[in-house]
Amino acid sequence: MSIKLGAIGGGVMGEALISRLIAQKVYPAQEVLVSEPQAQRRDFLQQQYQIQVSADNRDAAAASEVLLLAVKPQVLDAIVASLGSRTEVKSQPLVISVLAGVPLKKLEAAFPEQPIIRAMPNTPATVGAGMSAIASGRIVETHHISLAKSIFKAVGEVVEVPESLMDAVTGLSGSGPAYVAMAIEALADGGVAAGLPRAIAAKLALQTVLGTAQLLQESGLHPAQLKDRVTSPGGTTIAGVAALEKAGCRSALIEAVLAAYRRSQELGKH
Ligand SMILES: NC(=O)c1ccc[n+]([C@@H]2O[C@H](COP(=O)([O-])OP(=O)(O)OC[C@H]3O[C@@H](n4cnc5c(N)ncnc54)[C@H](OP(=O)(O)O)[C@@H]3O)[C@@H](O)[C@H]2O)c1
Repeated sequence: MSIKLGAIGGGVMGEALISRLIAQKVYPAQEVLVSEPQAQRRDFLQQQYQIQVSADNRDAAAASEVLLLAVKPQVLDAIVASLGSRTEVKSQPLVISVLAGVPLKKLEAAFPEQPIIRAMPNTPATVGAGMSAIASGRIVETHHISLAKSIFKAVGEVVEVPESLMDAVTGLSGSGPAYVAMAIEALADGGVAAGLPRAIAAKLALQTVLGTAQLLQESGLHPAQLKDRVTSPGGTTIAGVAALEKAGCRSALIEAVLAAYRRSQELGKH
């Protein structure tokens, strides 16, 4: 059977995408090939998902529909070199890159004449709860965008943005899992400070964040409306909210997103 989806790099993000695309029947396993330098990793991926594997990146690049680039950004040049001259290659699959910080201009120079979509997924994609943003290159058509969306929907939610907003996406959803993890850790610490055993405090903190996000998503409530609903006059929650405001919680989060956004801009210049 012919290969429709080729992936270069079978690491964390490559596996997250491929495993869910197969589980959700977006691609049957026989139509997926991953090229990966480590023999042990190739064997694992082949046995775990019944996909095809190769040590030669040209096998993935020959896919008919999509070529997924899922390697560390610093090995892009080596990948391009490993593909050799592409002038005789018949297949021109849509190239989807998840390489953080690598601009479309660089990808387009590496894969001239091929439609290219740059994507920025985040770590929760590995459990199917990711938030990905995609930006289209010069010769991308509507059906390519639909295809890319169907791929990232397999690991969570997806939005389309102009490439100029990718640094802002990085600052919010790309780096965001670290901010939320810190908030969960700090909430648990607060619980311990107030006398809860660590394991119970950790569980309460995690489920409170998870449940609040789910409630906001399912109800469509604005976060401020939810906050207002749970703050009774002179009650416990408004006392906590006042403490958060005094400590500059909102401003700290805004500054965190802006700092990561600026850093992403800086890194993109190199
Ligand atoms: N993980 C995330 O949550 C996340 C989120 C957003 C964006 N991303 C982006 O996704 C990309 C991959 O990240 P990752 O976390 O999946 O990294 P990773 O786990 O290190 O995976 C990269 C894979 O590529 C393989 N590789 C290295 N050189 C290669 C070559 N020349 N040809 C083919 N394969 C090669 C690596 O094999 P070896 O182990 O043998 O080197 C490894 O299996 C990065 O560009 C990152 O910016 C990741």
